[in-house]
Amino acid sequence: MVEPFPRAFVIGYPVAHSLSPDLHGFWLRRYGIRGSYEKIEVPTENLEEFLKNLQTRNFVGGNVTIPHKEMTYQIVKNRNQSTTRLEAVNTLWVENNILMAGNTDSYGFAANMDDFVSGWRDAKTAMVLGAGGASRAVVLALINAGFEQIFIANRTTSRAIVLVDKMGSRCTAVDWDDIPTCLKQIQLLINTTSLGMKGQHSLEIDLSNLPKSAIVSDIVYNPLNTQLLEQARLLGLESVDGIGMLLHQAVPGFEKWFGLRPKVTDELRKFVLDRLSGDAM
Ligand code: ATR
Repeated sequence: MVEPFPRAFVIGYPVAHSLSPDLHGFWLRRYGIRGSYEKIEVPTENLEEFLKNLQTRNFVGGNVTIPHKEMTYQIVKNRNQSTTRLEAVNTLWVENNILMAGNTDSYGFAANMDDFVSGWRDAKTAMVLGAGGASRAVVLALINAGFEQIFIANRTTSRAIVLVDKMGSRCTAVDWDDIPTCLKQIQLLINTTSLGMKGQHSLEIDLSNLPKSAIVSDIVYNPLNTQLLEQARLLGLESVDGIGMLLHQAVPGFEKWFGLRPKVTDELRKFVLDRLSGDAM
């Protein structure tokens, strides 16, 4: 009998704009793997049924995107520690016939930082802008990397306070208006808000208070060169753009589904960026 080839997916609602099929399709072709990665639009009311039945459809797992990350976390109870801390799932896989849930966003953030600023883990103080799901993943990455003090600033301060309560004593909530003063004390600044994204306002923060040795990172990748990163470069600060987080967060899933750990290369980066600029036309 011919073995069925492994099928993976990304589920969301809507899911049309997901770049994951391009990314995983690139690796499937690059490594000559017989397998598929499909976009599947799943309305919220069908999510539980989809998750229950995926193994009978030969799916080996897949990615979960907006708006299903939190609900998938509630439904799939087999998960690792970092997923439990994030209370959101972006990757599913089957292990010994059991559906497993994980979150690779913290890994993706840290691996991207490792690629561009080898010494970033030596820094001890950071500020994270934003308090949504992406912020939480970045804060966890900073805790895992050994940061001692993490300031969290959000337009809605109450959300920053909730996040601080969840992430522990190394975190401190900061009022949005107090960002300029706080910049003096930090070695790494990360934007996780949607400000700076195509179609959104830019993030209007004066970075001149940052120490000269500070690193500025933006997880926005469309556009790749946000005004925040532009300003950081003009000030001579080290800067890290957001596309690598998207690429690296995909690595553990691909390895689990298709049995090979794929590489994040310049060629992949260029391929995905070309797809993005194509969408912009
Ligand atoms: P995600 O889960 O992707 O992080 P999210 O939960 O929608 O997305 O979070 C978006 C972040 O961008 C939030 O921190 C949001 O701030 P609020 O909590 O105050 O909404 C932030 N954000 C969005 N628009 C903003 C704006 N115009 N100014 C400042 N922050 C903004």
